[in-house]
Amino acid sequence: MPSQTKPSPVKLYDFHPPIEDFRSAVLRGLSLPQKMLSPQFLYDKRGSELFDAICQLPEYYLTRTEMQILQDNAGEVAAALDHSALVELGSGSSQKIRILLKAALQVTTYVGVDISRQHLQEACAALMADFERLDAIAVCADYTQPLPIAAIPELQNHPTIGFFPGSSIGNLEPAEVISFLKTVAVLGDLIVGVDLKKSPIILEPAYDDAQGVSAAFALNVLTRINRELEADFDLSQFEYRAHYNEAQGRIEMAIASLCDQTVHLSDAEIPFCKGETLRTEHSYKYTIDEFQLLAMEAGFHPVQVWVDKQQLFSLHHLRQM
Ligand SMILES: C[S@@+](CC[C@H](N)C(=O)[O-])C[C@H]1O[C@@H](n2cnc3c(N)ncnc32)[C@H](O)[C@@H]1O
Repeated sequence: MPSQTKPSPVKLYDFHPPIEDFRSAVLRGLSLPQKMLSPQFLYDKRGSELFDAICQLPEYYLTRTEMQILQDNAGEVAAALDHSALVELGSGSSQKIRILLKAALQVTTYVGVDISRQHLQEACAALMADFERLDAIAVCADYTQPLPIAAIPELQNHPTIGFFPGSSIGNLEPAEVISFLKTVAVLGDLIVGVDLKKSPIILEPAYDDAQGVSAAFALNVLTRINRELEADFDLSQFEYRAHYNEAQGRIEMAIASLCDQTVHLSDAEIPFCKGETLRTEHSYKYTIDEFQLLAMEAGFHPVQVWVDKQQLFSLHHLRQM
């Protein structure tokens, strides 16, 4: 007898862009002089699983440090949440939020916003199972676009607060950070995780680990394009690279072509020269002052910032001026 799948208790609002948008964004990115793809494309189901594996790596200090900051300051952060509905952008496996939910017993509504639909639904279902009081709502959407708040009845007439951990804000160019913060100002106060500037000796292995999980995560985007857009990337002819550009204050992640080759995608032929790179992600690092200046340009003022003892990572509480 085939087993019946239990219906998910999680309400899903699905604003996932259609496949044709993915196709045109990929074709556009691959026809630029510096080929590039939006980091959001890294997160299909497999990409989300690989990202979770990255979070467990000894080199990837970001996750454990941000979790430690949340643990050490749970009372203060929980107080900042007040009675708002908690809207987490790029919620992934919704692990960090658990620390806050344990401390903020007054919070009863959680909205996870993520582009990786199945992973998002599973994470919200797990939260509902573990926190009885909680209504967890899944919103599959691109958070760089205006948030579809008006289409979520649970958020009507309810104060909200935004939570954006994981240093995902570092994926945006500094000018984009300002427009992004202005867009998400609709949520009210924001709690944002920001990775701090530090030595390349710590930074580079975090993005290019000894086991090759970061490489598998980046190369998975080619597998996804092959599968969903019927392209013919030969993964053995590409390699992953990560480098800290100190002048720009960012990790530059890319996939380099190992030979001269042509990739086919729909009717397009995409030439790669040997050594040519396809940019997959930037991850900007900031000092506390640099990030607070950007936030102020976007109309926020810093209420508080929490940092770990080693000053690796920062968590900012921002309020609209
Ligand atoms: C770096 S991971 C962080 C996950 C988690 N918040 C954490 O701190 O560990 C980025 C998350 O954001 C999601 N994501 C990336 N770009 C997105 C976008 N443009 N819109 C919505 N979700 C996005 C990914 O699916 C992934 O779950």
